[in-house]
Amino acid sequence: MDARIVFTLGAVFATSAAFAGPVTSAPDPEHGKDLAQRLCSNCHLVDSGQSHASVDIPSFREIAGKEGQTEGAIMAAIVIPKHPMPVIPITKTELEDLAAYIMTLREPNER
Ligand code: HEC
Repeated sequence: MDARIVFTLGAVFATSAAFAGPVTSAPDPEHGKDLAQRLCSNCHLVDSGQSHASVDIPSFREIAGKEGQTEGAIMAAIVIPKHPMPVIPITKTELEDLAAYIMTLREPNER
């Protein structure tokens, strides 16, 4: 094989790897936290640094700590919310990031 072809193949692989990156990336809880603070903190207590939220609405720590809680169940509760929780228009990636963030709030002894 001619060296130029090898180089070209290398470049093609490098480019496709760069494109594949975001699609296969794992959920990003840091991004989820950012989204939660922007989209959810009007109602839910998102993290302990927050002083006000509605008393009737479960905090994210409480939600994370529910027995048998999973990312999937959290995502389902966001996609098909129970009244009075509104439908919040977010992308699938944002949904996964949010669920990953909420699950980081689960205490080790609740796992
Ligand atoms: C307008 C207020 C409001 C906003 C904004 C809101 N929620 Fe909720 N959410 C609620 C209420 C009220 C409930 C409780 C519903 C019920 O009675 O079970 C709830 C319940 C939930 C539950 C299920 C809790 C359980 O006990 O299983 C999850 C998960 C959840 N919210 C996530 C989110 C996320 C993530 C966001 C931001 C993207 C968000 N919520 C934004 C009001 C809100």
